[in-house]
Parts: sequence; C-alpha cells; structure tokens
Amino acid sequence: MPDTSPLPVSLPPGLLGALTAVLGPKGVITDPADLAPWTTDWRGLYQGATPCLLRPANTNELSAVVRLLARAGVPMVPQGGNTSMVGGGAPDESGRQVILSLTRMNRIRDLDPIDMTMTAEAGVILKSAQDAAAAAGALFPLSLGAEGSATIGGVLATNAGGNTTVRYGNARELMLGIEAVLPDGQVFSGLRRLRKDNTGYALKHLFVGAEGTLGIITAATLRLFPRARVQCVALAAVASEDAALSLFRRFRDRDDTAVRAFEYMSGTGIDIVLRQIDGASLPVAERADHYCLIDLASSRPDADLQGLLEAVLEAALEAGEVVDAAIAQSEAQAQAIWRLREEHPEAQKREGASVKSDVSVPVSKVPELIRRSSDALRALIPGSRPVPFGHMGDGNIHMNLEQPEGMDPAAFLARGHDIMDTVNEVVRDLEGSFSAEHGIGRLKTDMMDSWRGGAELDAMRRIKAALDPQGLMNPGKVLPG
Ligand code: FAD
Ligand code: MLT
Ligand code: ZN
Repeated sequence: MPDTSPLPVSLPPGLLGALTAVLGPKGVITDPADLAPWTTDWRGLYQGATPCLLRPANTNELSAVVRLLARAGVPMVPQGGNTSMVGGGAPDESGRQVILSLTRMNRIRDLDPIDMTMTAEAGVILKSAQDAAAAAGALFPLSLGAEGSATIGGVLATNAGGNTTVRYGNARELMLGIEAVLPDGQVFSGLRRLRKDNTGYALKHLFVGAEGTLGIITAATLRLFPRARVQCVALAAVASEDAALSLFRRFRDRDDTAVRAFEYMSGTGIDIVLRQIDGASLPVAERADHYCLIDLASSRPDADLQGLLEAVLEAALEAGEVVDAAIAQSEAQAQAIWRLREEHPEAQKREGASVKSDVSVPVSKVPELIRRSSDALRALIPGSRPVPFGHMGDGNIHMNLEQPEGMDPAAFLARGHDIMDTVNEVVRDLEGSFSAEHGIGRLKTDMMDSWRGGAELDAMRRIKAALDPQGLMNPGKVLPG
C-alpha cells in the first residue's frame, strides 16, 4: 500500500506505510485533532505529543506492528481508556512515542459459567466485562469510578483496586491467565484458566502492575463469582476517624463475607460533592465531619443483610460511634448514596486544583493517617482543604488536598511534590505505601529510589533489561531514569 499521508518527522521513512499495510487505514491515526484526546491524561497534568496512534484489531496485528516498531527503535506507549491518575497512558513531549491503543480489541472471547471464568480482550471496557458476567448470571467484581472508560488491559496493567478490594482483592487476584505481546513482538500465550498451575516462575504476574513497561496485555482470563442475590447499602455519619474504623470492625467481625465495600468520606469531601454535582443530596439529617458508606452483598437469597445492617448500626449508635444513618430502601437510593462517593474525583476537579496522594497503610492505622496528614497539610498550606476519602476497608485512603479558595491554581499545583512528600512522611512512619492502587506512571518515578531502592529496584531494572533491552516499552514510566 503506497504511503501517501504526510510523514511525521519522528518516524523513520517507510515505517508509516508498513504499519498501515498491517493495520489498514482504520488502524492508523495521524490527524492531530483525532490524536489530541489521547496525548494528555485525565487529570491534565501532562501534554504529550505523538506521531501516530495505532489501533490493532487483534493480537497478530499488534505483534506485527510491535516487531516493526522494535526493529526501527521506536518507543511505544500502550493505552486503554486513558484514565490513569498518574499520567501512565500518555506519551511524553518528545513526539517520538507511538501510542498503541487496545480499544479495538474488545471481544469477550469466552465465558464459562462452570469454570467461573471469562476471557476478555484487553480493550474490553470494565463495565462491559461486568455486564457480560451479569448476563451469564455471574459477577465480575472489580468496580471503580472510571469503569465506564477503563479497560481490562488497563486495570491489569495498573493492578487496579477500587471499591471491592476488601472482599475480592485487586485486579491481580482476579486474573488466572494472560496473553501479552512482548517488546520484541513475540506473543506470550498464557491464557490458562487453572486454579492450580505451579510450573516455574509465575510470569503472568509480571505484566500485572508493570504499567505497560514489560509488554502489552492483549487478553486475560478472569475469575468470576456467584452474583449477589441480596444487597444493602447505607450511609452512616460517624463521630470520628476512630469511630469509622470501629464501625468497619463491627461489620467485619459480624460477617466479613457480607462486606462488599466499606468506604470513608470526610465532611469536606461530601460538601464539595453536594456543591459541585447536580442532584447530589445527603440522606442523613445533619452534616457531619466523617461518613462511611457500607455496601453489603450476599449470593445467599435468604441472607438477612437489612437485619445485619440495622443491628450493627444500632449497636454503634448506642456506643456513640454512629451519629446518624440512612439505609437505602431501593436501588435508586443505593445508587444515590454511591454517587456521593463516586463523584468525589469529578467534584474535586470542578472545585479547583487538587493534588492526589493515593496511599495505603495497615487498616489499623487509617485514623492516624487521616488525622496526622490532614494536620500536616493544613500547616504546609494554610487554608488548603484536606479531602481524605476512599477504600478504608483495605487501608487505601486518597489523602487528596484541595487548593485554598481564591488561590491561583497553578501556584497550588506547583507545590504538588511538597504536598505528596508531606503525606508520604506520615505514610512512611505508619509503614504504608506511597502508591496504593493508581501506580507510579510518570508522576511518581522520582519516589521509587527512596521507597523501593536497593535490591528491589535493582531486580526491577534487571527484569526490564531482560525483557525490553532497547527500553522501548512505555519509557519514562515506573522506573526512574
Ligand atoms: P490507561 O489509563 O490507558 O493506562 C494505564 C497504564 O496501563 C498506562 O501505564 C498504560 O501504558 C498501561 N496500559 C494500558 N493498557 C495496557 C495494556 N493492554 N497492556 C499493557 N499496559 C497497558 N484506579 C483504581 O485502582 N481504583 C479506583 O478506585 C480508581 N478510581 C478512578 C476514578 C476516576 C474518576 C478515574 C478517572 C480514575 C480512577 N482510577 C482508579 C484510575 C484508573 O481508572 C485505573 O488506573 C485504570 O486501571 C486505568 O485503566 P485504563 O484502561 O484507563 O488505562
Ligand atoms: C477513587 O477511588 O475515586 C479514585 O481512585 C480516587 C481519586 O480520584 O483520587
Ligand atoms: Zn480509589
């Protein structure tokens, strides 16, 4: 096929034509207007550039284009829904990095209700995977605010967590097998759906959490679970951070299999959601400084979740831990409560500039994390508004900071690394992690040395060099330069 389009300066001569010959014109995007949404990240932290975005329709096409790019020494950035919170899926500013978008590879290849597995291509949207499982009477439990855009490849590449980690684990725990294209174009065919398979190094896990630096995930075999037959959602206003933890323990001690999600939200965060999101409303009478969202679910049709919820909330009310609570009486009310939680990222964006610290600590230390970080952040930037929220049940709090009202957003964002360092100091003291579920991407590479330096980072570099000796796979992400 003749190469008639204008040649981006940064691609070697003839390469665009060769890529188009493999993918067809639908698979190669070079128009700057069409490229624009894919060269920046969801948070708008980075504005990159690319000569082209490639959209293979299947694994063979992807393998062929990776071979061509590798031979020409062209760096590649795998991309799914581009919802990364750490700039992982966007190319850098050099204009040399080609985007490999998986969005056309969106087939559910297989769903087996006896094995309780689903094999989905990397470009399947998370919500579509959940829907496919539900249509077969099963559950794919991974759930997060970006599930309408994030892809199976993306959630595995970042080892995403989200709301149900407390019960079902992170994306890694939901993966049984993987298919990936290696940086030289070879296909790694590991789509086994076995619960037991001890056959040497568990290479499939290398691609999970690697954020596209070791190869491109093309499909995965995922675990399914029995669907929920009864569920119950409540919002509780609680007296303090400690009371939130006590409430979690009450539910866990009573029936840990029932807790599908246990989320914490601050009064400041809820105020911002109520201000910024149309139709959001508080189901309890009084505003509070702390709230918990409790989501119980069971596959047993006779499980008395409403009774469980009432009994635990009543005991916590008597103990002075819960101040007020509302139990959803319909699916619409349950969704309205979840909306208060899920709109936190969007509401914060609308409120002004904010800096995210996606951190984790042992669950027992969550109250101390929230208190100490909030105090330290207020002292660092007077007038700034700490907005801690998130997955309390698994120890992952988004220790986000909203700019002071009236402050220049750019001046606030310029303090981003000071702000993250301030939170990280507390996190280190509490034996936590500086990145819980969003990954490292481009944003946190500078933190790797001090948190993972020595043997751990050295091993990571050796693995990277073994699989990607030219350093072409998502350069500038995860590993510090
Ligand atoms: P992208 O953003 O496209 O890519 C993310 C990283 O994975 C990049 O490094 C990219 O190179 C790599 N990658 C993408 N696809 C592949 C592939 N097929 N093979 C190899 N590498 C690949 N995250 C959570 O964990 N929990 C949450 O609760 C959560 N909530 C969010 C809420 C909102 C509103 C938003 C915008 C984001 C949220 N995120 C959350 C972050 C984000 O959704 C996740 O990181 C998600 O896993 C990214 O999926 P994606 O398809 O958009 O990947
Ligand atoms: C969420 O759980 O909503 C996101 O991971 C958090 C964020 O936006 O910081
Ligand atoms: Zn989260």
